[in-house]
Amino acid sequence: MCGISGAVGHKDISQDLFEGIRNLEYRGYDSCGVALMNSTKLIVRKNIGGVEEFYQKENVLRHKSHLGIAHTRWATHGKVTRENTHPMLSTDKAFAVVHNGIISNYRELRSKLQKDGVKFVSETDTEVVPHLMQKLFKQTGNVEKAFVKMLGMLEGTYAVVLITKYHPDVIFCARKESPLMLGIGDEVKYVGSDFNAFIEHTKNAVIIEDEEYVVLTRDSYTVKNFITGEEIQKPITKIEWDSETSKKGGYPHYMLKEIYEQPQTILNALEVDEKALDDVVDYMKDRPTYLVGVGTTFYVAKYAKYIFSRLAGRFFPSISSDEFVALSPVDRNSLVLAISQSGETYDTLTALKHAKAKGAKTAAIVNVIGSTLSRMVDRVILQGSGPEICVISTKAALAQMVILTNLAMRLALKTRKMTKKEYNEGIRALKEMPEIIGNVLNERSGFIHRIANNYKNIKHWLYLGRGIYYPVALESALKMKEVAYVHAEGMPGGFLKHGTLAMIDKDIYSVVFMPPPCEKELYQSTLSSVAEIRARSGFVLGIHFDERGKNRDLFSEELILPAVPPLVAPLLQLVLAQLFAYFTATSLKRNVDKPRSLAKSVTVG
Ligand code: AGP
Repeated sequence: MCGISGAVGHKDISQDLFEGIRNLEYRGYDSCGVALMNSTKLIVRKNIGGVEEFYQKENVLRHKSHLGIAHTRWATHGKVTRENTHPMLSTDKAFAVVHNGIISNYRELRSKLQKDGVKFVSETDTEVVPHLMQKLFKQTGNVEKAFVKMLGMLEGTYAVVLITKYHPDVIFCARKESPLMLGIGDEVKYVGSDFNAFIEHTKNAVIIEDEEYVVLTRDSYTVKNFITGEEIQKPITKIEWDSETSKKGGYPHYMLKEIYEQPQTILNALEVDEKALDDVVDYMKDRPTYLVGVGTTFYVAKYAKYIFSRLAGRFFPSISSDEFVALSPVDRNSLVLAISQSGETYDTLTALKHAKAKGAKTAAIVNVIGSTLSRMVDRVILQGSGPEICVISTKAALAQMVILTNLAMRLALKTRKMTKKEYNEGIRALKEMPEIIGNVLNERSGFIHRIANNYKNIKHWLYLGRGIYYPVALESALKMKEVAYVHAEGMPGGFLKHGTLAMIDKDIYSVVFMPPPCEKELYQSTLSSVAEIRARSGFVLGIHFDERGKNRDLFSEELILPAVPPLVAPLLQLVLAQLFAYFTATSLKRNVDKPRSLAKSVTVG
């Protein structure tokens, strides 16, 4: 999930490179860098932060060049530091490399190079590439030969792009299981990890396949197989996207883009300022605490209510911001913790003003830096989820749930409701989430699309969950309502037999959020809700983790997820439900990013 951009031209390409990685930022944006050819010298600039910020801070555009490569990173190997940012350089500074993917044998390669005396400056797998190039070029005296030899030594997946002072007019690049393509302009030739690296300049693309490498100059491109050495004639593919699509990073809608950004958003959520978290924990320790939000953030607050109760043994009521003043529960001993993506929501601001007027302490989890809410509270946690453009909140909400889980664990640790070991296990489970979610998005979205399309004409859904799966059901139902305009009612599973069951027949469709079977009681009680519906011929779409379970016959349709620890199971289900709502909406041709009657931040009461 990193972005690569490269260009070689008859004119200055520095602006094109900048636009290239800026358009790729959705793929990763924790740090970025660029290498530019200056006669036969490489100028390398890199730093942590987003593309615009980095270019401005380092005044990168003052360097003009006819050839360069750039990268925007989503950290996999090594922390988010300047040293770990691409491009990576060889010791003699003759080779600069950017890379996507994972070189699985980098440890062996690294230790061999270290034995040869090479000093590594980063923790990345990528850094072996420029050092290998320096070594192999010394042996062969030929960059192309050294490049092919080096590729033969790499295991894993990669799109790798290299420039060298020995060939100041050439870009070398190769691909194995990580996307790479060329953009064929008249004056400039481009390389990128996807079309967005050059779509503003040319719609002529050449798709590079696995085990192919390219020698790219301003006037030509030669593609060869790096195993057989055979030259390959490549057809030009015309890109048919408009530039609006391009800004969405190739996704048809911001909603889908933002759903797919969630692995990165969780990583960011796990890296929020620890002091900010502990300051809020200190407030919570001995104060009655109220969790406040509205719409999605109310459901996030409800989710947090279960999390704080489960992990820290504390009961923190969740209150919809618009009802807060009417309830007026606070005084000077209380804490009000507000949750808001925009930080500008009128109802939440009103609740906070009321709390402040009553002398309560206030805190907030907010996405937008500098927003009114972030400035008015005593303590603020900035969630760092990046811009959420779709009106429907997806990635911001998931990040808030992760942060609240972390907060609950820190509170539990501080109040000795949790051991250090349990805390570490919880953190590990959260840290494993991005990869699991990434895999689920890649592997299951086709299936979810099919199910959504099959059931797009269902007019009424019941979304059922018990315990912590209940707020997940509520939030999932809200997604369905706001993006697909389909009625969906979230309800606790146990509530069903107290009235709603009377409605159930073959025309009523339900989605049931099943806990993992290891949560025995919750699992069994949720299963009994399923049985109650099925006994009345109702349809049940089960979202569950039980690939081999004997109860699967009960479901009319199922979405199966990989087994994960209970702490993260509801979050994974929410991601599926977001996709289900999204695909239902697209099947019904809804205006996904801007649903009717809604606005991103509701600044009126
Ligand atoms: C979410 O999908 C909504 N469009 C809406 O409910 C939103 O969560 C609510 O208006 C609160 O917004 P905020 O997070 O910006 O405060």
